[in-house]
Amino acid sequence: MAPIDYDERIPNNVSLAADRRLLRALEDWQPKFLEWWHDMGPEGFQSKDVYLRTAVSVDPKGWAQFGYVKMPEYRWGIFLAEPEADRRINFGDHQGQPAWQDVPGEYRGTLRRLIVTQGDTEPASVEQQRHLGRTCPSLYDLRNLFQVNVEEGRHLWAMVYLLDAHFGRDGREESEALLQRRSGDHDKPRILGAFNEKTPDWLSFFMFCFFTDRDGKYQLASLAESGFDPLSRTCRFMLTEEAHHMFVGESGVGRIVQRACELMREHKTDDVRKHGGIDLPTMQKYINFHCSVSLDLFGSEVSTNAANFYTAGLKGRFEETKKTDDHRLKDGLYPVIGLDGDKIVARQEAALVSLNERLRDDYVADCQRGVNRWNEIIKSHGIDFTLTLPHRAFRRAIGTFAEVRVSPDGRVVSQAEWDARHRDWLPTEEDAAYVGSLMKPVTERGKMAGWIAPPARGVNSQAEDFEYVRLS
Ligand SMILES: [Fe+2]
Ligand SMILES: [Fe+2]
Repeated sequence: MAPIDYDERIPNNVSLAADRRLLRALEDWQPKFLEWWHDMGPEGFQSKDVYLRTAVSVDPKGWAQFGYVKMPEYRWGIFLAEPEADRRINFGDHQGQPAWQDVPGEYRGTLRRLIVTQGDTEPASVEQQRHLGRTCPSLYDLRNLFQVNVEEGRHLWAMVYLLDAHFGRDGREESEALLQRRSGDHDKPRILGAFNEKTPDWLSFFMFCFFTDRDGKYQLASLAESGFDPLSRTCRFMLTEEAHHMFVGESGVGRIVQRACELMREHKTDDVRKHGGIDLPTMQKYINFHCSVSLDLFGSEVSTNAANFYTAGLKGRFEETKKTDDHRLKDGLYPVIGLDGDKIVARQEAALVSLNERLRDDYVADCQRGVNRWNEIIKSHGIDFTLTLPHRAFRRAIGTFAEVRVSPDGRVVSQAEWDARHRDWLPTEEDAAYVGSLMKPVTERGKMAGWIAPPARGVNSQAEDFEYVRLS
């Protein structure tokens, strides 16, 4: 058998061909990845031509190519952002020292855990979304789903590259384990809660891309500050692709909101379900659910782990280098909300242990900007309704608020009130069944399901009736 030309098969800018040990590890892993992709990747479309974007370089002006690809033949590449000359560690105890090109021995275990936890989310979301192709609202959306899926696959490659290149045999074992855990599996679940939830319909998918992928953005952005330079460069490039996933989420939800508003106006009623739309109160419930699940991903409000990652120079703050403080945070304070009896109050905590909450603040502000844009759509139809983010203490399973019941507007409520009201706050089985009943595939070129408005423009400026996936 002729040796595989990896520069050809795996586009990369890490001189893969020159590193025989790494090549062997990836040669060993690749067939297992493909086996996983066949078993757990998008169901029913593996032999179809899909109009996909493939990352082929890190040139900001033209890093991707568009063209028809069968998903199993997607060229999952390995890209690190260009090195920064003389890059330093910008925070923590090692501030000012040269960034590490190799794993510092004392942080080996911690760093591996950080990479594995990030890496585990990538295949998990592919697993969560594998049945959605069957019920796509249009070829445009079908293609966007697959684009997100292959790129999450590439993000897995990105993390496996770090594990194989820098963590020896432990790294190779972790690379295998990343293919063995399964989203929602009782015995070998994915590591983080949100990645074991179901994504049963397209509304959930768009909400997932908006809320849960955005957690990914903030985690990647803080890992992009890492003193471990290969991790920093890997994450910086992943963020380029991640932007599209959030676009899919925000525009997807926005198009459903738009369609609801159109139906409300056309039929002069709030009850758009009668006309095949998804009503705004239902949208609000889905926001409440997906936002609260995603807020948990940031971890406890007060966390010594987060402090240790920072002090060690492994994981920074969002936009660390743009901040003007001492980047050590030994004496600083930060406002964190907590419980005082049955009241939610702000407290000053040591800045160092409050880093999860600070990142959550950045995340919530970003989510709010997206919600504001959805509200603009509603307003432009002259409709008096405002979508809101739930209070961050609502329905939390991790941290201070895991112990109490809190309403979406931020009141600690009794179990009795929760029992009486939670059906107004979260999607019920009836809501899910209604949304599920809308999930009928629309696969004619240029056609769109009745519950969602068409996109403002096509992918890569393609025409409205472009054949994004060739099904025949
Ligand atoms: Fe990802
Ligand atoms: Fe993503």
